[in-house]
Amino acid sequence: MTQVSSEGFGTLPDGRPVRRFTLSSDSVTLRVLSFGAILTSLETKDRDGQTADIVLGFDNLEGYINKHPYFGAVIGRVANRIAEGKFSIDGKDYQLPINNGPNSLHGGLKGFDKVLWTPEVVPNGVRFSMTSADGEQGYPGELKVWVTYVLNGEELAINYKAKTTKTTPINLTNHSYFNLAGHGTPKIYDHEVSIEAESYLPVDKTLIPTGEIASVMNTYFDLRNPVLLGSHIENKLTEGFDHNFCLSFSKQRSPCARVFHQPSGRLLEVETTQPGIQFYTANFLDGSLKGKEGATYPKHSAFCLETQNWPNAVNKKNFPDALLRPGEEYNHTTWFKFSVRQ
Ligand code: BGC
Repeated sequence: MTQVSSEGFGTLPDGRPVRRFTLSSDSVTLRVLSFGAILTSLETKDRDGQTADIVLGFDNLEGYINKHPYFGAVIGRVANRIAEGKFSIDGKDYQLPINNGPNSLHGGLKGFDKVLWTPEVVPNGVRFSMTSADGEQGYPGELKVWVTYVLNGEELAINYKAKTTKTTPINLTNHSYFNLAGHGTPKIYDHEVSIEAESYLPVDKTLIPTGEIASVMNTYFDLRNPVLLGSHIENKLTEGFDHNFCLSFSKQRSPCARVFHQPSGRLLEVETTQPGIQFYTANFLDGSLKGKEGATYPKHSAFCLETQNWPNAVNKKNFPDALLRPGEEYNHTTWFKFSVRQ
């Protein structure tokens, strides 16, 4: 049984109150806000039963209201980049606000991470809903969105549903930054990662996929067997990972990634219905943010496993369909399982 409780977590500048929900099972306790549907903490045990909070974040609401690198947030209407913020649907051209070099990133100037969602307690979890207006941040159609966090024992499931009144691109994910040694530990180099992908998307210098679906074979992107991030990042991909790995198009629940932290014994296993996973090793963190409990978060102090559609899919015919049409339901789930190994 998961205990669900809630409390106030400050007010927005316009006076609206934010609530924080705590979901607690025998082995995992997590907290999530009605603002941005942000996962603010996730406590799990190591092999000796010691608890640590393994996601990056802030102590108070102000940290999340200010500009930050999307710690723990739900990202939408379209996660990752759309090249030059442009796309066209049924012959009509759309221009989104540009907020990342020449591109549109993570939903634009005010993405779903900056929205106050409506919470509702559900069995073993909490559901957040919101409506994104027709034309908001340049996107067509009124979009209704539901994001549900459910904790069962050691497994967190995040389900994303949406419906639209006009055809729109959509790509929803959660942007948690994990460090299995505990947030505030300076590097993730002692983590072993594997991703079950036979191909990945090479990117240009603005991080837009070139369009090529490249085999991982004989490259640094072959993570089908576990690699130690230290030797991989320090000696090979020195900037770190910020790449989409291509998964099955089947929409069936499938294992996609596994991260093991030998010193603590913590193991994270990820399964998803999504066709892609953005593996990002926090390359743009620079230690300047003041995190929870006074922690600082330098480059490579966390990793993100953002299960989602492929970046810029709305502009690429050979990428999975990025459009949601009226009458259809967007429905994806990702499962994160937290356990320990010797
Ligand atoms: C992107 C990174 C970006 C980060 C924070 C990730 O999803 O792939 O390029 O820096 O989000 O915005």
